[in-house]
Amino acid sequence: MHVHSSMTTLPNAQHAIRRKAYAPYYNLANLALFQTDLSMPTLKLVEILDRVAGKASVDCLDLFRHLMVDILSVTVFGSRPGSLDKWATNIQDPITTAVYDFPKRGILRSAVPTWAWNIVCSIPNNRWRQICASDKIIAEFVGGRLYEMRAKMQAGPIVGETDTEKMPLLQQMLQHRSEGMSDQDIVSEGMGHIIAGVDTTSTTLSYLFWELSRRRDIMRKIQAELDEVMSDRRVVPDVSTLCKMPYLNAFIKEGLRLYGAAPSLLERVVPSTTVSKVDDAFDMMGYALPPGTIVSTQAWSMHRDAEVFPSPETFLPERWLPVDGSDREDERLLRMSQHSMPFGAGTRVCGGQNLARMTLRIAVAAIAANFDITAKTAETNERSMEMRDAFVLFPASKECKLIFTSRAH
Ligand code: HEM
Repeated sequence: MHVHSSMTTLPNAQHAIRRKAYAPYYNLANLALFQTDLSMPTLKLVEILDRVAGKASVDCLDLFRHLMVDILSVTVFGSRPGSLDKWATNIQDPITTAVYDFPKRGILRSAVPTWAWNIVCSIPNNRWRQICASDKIIAEFVGGRLYEMRAKMQAGPIVGETDTEKMPLLQQMLQHRSEGMSDQDIVSEGMGHIIAGVDTTSTTLSYLFWELSRRRDIMRKIQAELDEVMSDRRVVPDVSTLCKMPYLNAFIKEGLRLYGAAPSLLERVVPSTTVSKVDDAFDMMGYALPPGTIVSTQAWSMHRDAEVFPSPETFLPERWLPVDGSDREDERLLRMSQHSMPFGAGTRVCGGQNLARMTLRIAVAAIAANFDITAKTAETNERSMEMRDAFVLFPASKECKLIFTSRAH
């Protein structure tokens, strides 16, 4: 089946229709209504870590994937699939597995001719069949939620919603359906968001905690800042408080600089009607680019420009902090912000970036306030965490095993 979400819709006019349908959901004021829906699964993850705390290492990449499926299920689809519960009881979660498998299926599908695809999918191996069916599994999940949601909407105001403005994305898209958007389009859009949001956020989170495991100095500074605002470590501060915490935010910015999960080429096509024409070509800083030329930006080298980010390979949250408030320093900070594009740029910039940033803040706060993080070097090290690019980054070992030890009070 073909999944066309905003990300894969190339014509600009059609993309704009898709974007208009989902964009209001991800604005900050709307997302603020969903804080508890982000904090609750994160605190459940803290409880899960409590049970293994200090005793064994945990593959937090896998754990964060389950967290993201729970967060996106409730915020985007208004449902609770209990992904973290399944993780805690060693039961495979079909949705998390399907989201993980989906890119592999894509690679496989493009390598196999159409006539052979059904034959390939019928190879009698359960894991193999699961990979082949990952698109259908996600589509059935999202489709199921759409029909459930519509049934609830038809039955009257949704029970339990005290704030009528608070609507999961699916409900918003059904209620304010953009012109020409069919049920299938809404399902595809929803699928696009779960696929775009799970691996990206869990990879970045894993690298952030990997940094904490090997940089005790940074961990202590974050914990000191968190201790100031979290007298009860089992209560996540509201997002407006988290946004004002200088070191936490510097840490996350630095994480997105070095470990933003999608640092590869983001392609755009020079349109036939251009703003600046040189014989119908687009004039880009003196270079004439004919219509149809593919141009791209990418965050990897932008974020490692030594003129903007001195010692670019060093993880240094302090670079984002003001020291003396001088004009020169304001310019330095502004230049760094202008050179940061972990979520892309322009009209196709990551639709879920506000939700992603909110999740990173909440997860780092809840976990770092409660645990000291370490790693066994035989298990997790420079080599196992070497970044591999498959459009979304992942660590070479495809896991990130860390030890979470409860902090003394
Ligand atoms: C750290 C986490 C994330 C990173 C690094 C990231 C990065 C990106 C990047 C680089 C793009 C392409 C932008 C472009 O072409 O200019 C993108 C697109 C997109 N992302 Fe994210 N993303 C993250 C999390 C999320 C989350 C949590 C969601 C939603 C639940 C999401 C939804 C989307 C959507 C819908 C698009 C397509 C935008 C469009 O074409 O209209 N992302 N993301």
